Amino acid sequence: MNVGYYYHPFSSLAHHSSVSCYAPITRTSQTLLHHHRPVSISFSFFQNPNFYTGNTIFFKMQRFCSVSGKNKNKAMVERLQHFGVIMSNKVAEVMETVDRALFVPSGSASPYDDSPVAIGYNATISAPHMHATCLQLLEENLQPGMHALDIGSGTGYLTACFAQMVGPQGRVVGVEHIPELVSLAIENIQKSAAATLLKDGSLSVHAGDGREGWPEFAPYDAIHVGAAAPEIPQPLIDQLKPGGRMVIPVGNIFQDLKVVDKNPDGSISIRTETSVRYVPLTSREAQLRGY
Ligand SMILES: C[S@@+](CC[C@H](N)C(=O)[O-])C[C@H]1O[C@@H](n2cnc3c(N)ncnc32)[C@H](O)[C@@H]1O
Repeated sequence: MNVGYYYHPFSSLAHHSSVSCYAPITRTSQTLLHHHRPVSISFSFFQNPNFYTGNTIFFKMQRFCSVSGKNKNKAMVERLQHFGVIMSNKVAEVMETVDRALFVPSGSASPYDDSPVAIGYNATISAPHMHATCLQLLEENLQPGMHALDIGSGTGYLTACFAQMVGPQGRVVGVEHIPELVSLAIENIQKSAAATLLKDGSLSVHAGDGREGWPEFAPYDAIHVGAAAPEIPQPLIDQLKPGGRMVIPVGNIFQDLKVVDKNPDGSISIRTETSVRYVPLTSREAQLRGY
């Protein structure tokens, strides 16, 4: 029998409750625990931006910080494969190519830990397992030549991964409402494996309210939303191609990662993938004053 860990993404909880960040458990399978909701959480946590993590609520994962060796990014990807989060070679290849350290602010904890990291402006770069989950869910809609929209692009990490997936014949658009984060994302991408795609114009990052989408390059085969919407914005549904897929966290205090498929006849099918905690998809003013 293997001993593993429930990775508890809410470091702030450790200070306020008996729940620790990494509680040892007995691991008998690698099935992800996607259906649990947090219990006994004081509402004061929701005032703390560090509470919003862009993570699944509970995730069985060993600490990445124990990883040593030269290529820690590769080791991070291998760990995600080991735990069944990454199942496809293409997703693994792309996450190996785009070094997460280039997108995590220097001076932070290890960029390869499976945890979100604050990036300023009450925002975070999501945890690696969340990026991997979204890439897996969208893989079929990120084939070479396809169009993808990344709302709340933040550091640009996932936008760069999308661009690597669809390649130079595709089109990837990041939309972020904090102009300073748009500049940061562009700087980060310029240092990354996706730099050529940015230079050649198949990848772009724009300042704007993501709730409106980005009609210029619609319709999109894939739409990813990196912040939790109270409800699915209609412009994003409108900009989804028939046969296209959107992955979006929906909710306020309790959030679900929704998978929205637009069927060939234009009808919509929605299912819940897992419980998550993301920063809100909101106005710039609300975000800057702390929601
Ligand atoms: C959890 S962060 C994720 C960032 C990105 N996926 C990453 O991992 O680097 C959510 C992002 O959504 C942005 N955001 C929130 N509301 C937005 C809106 N209405 N329009 C555009 N971006 C928004 C935030 O500024 C933040 O950068």
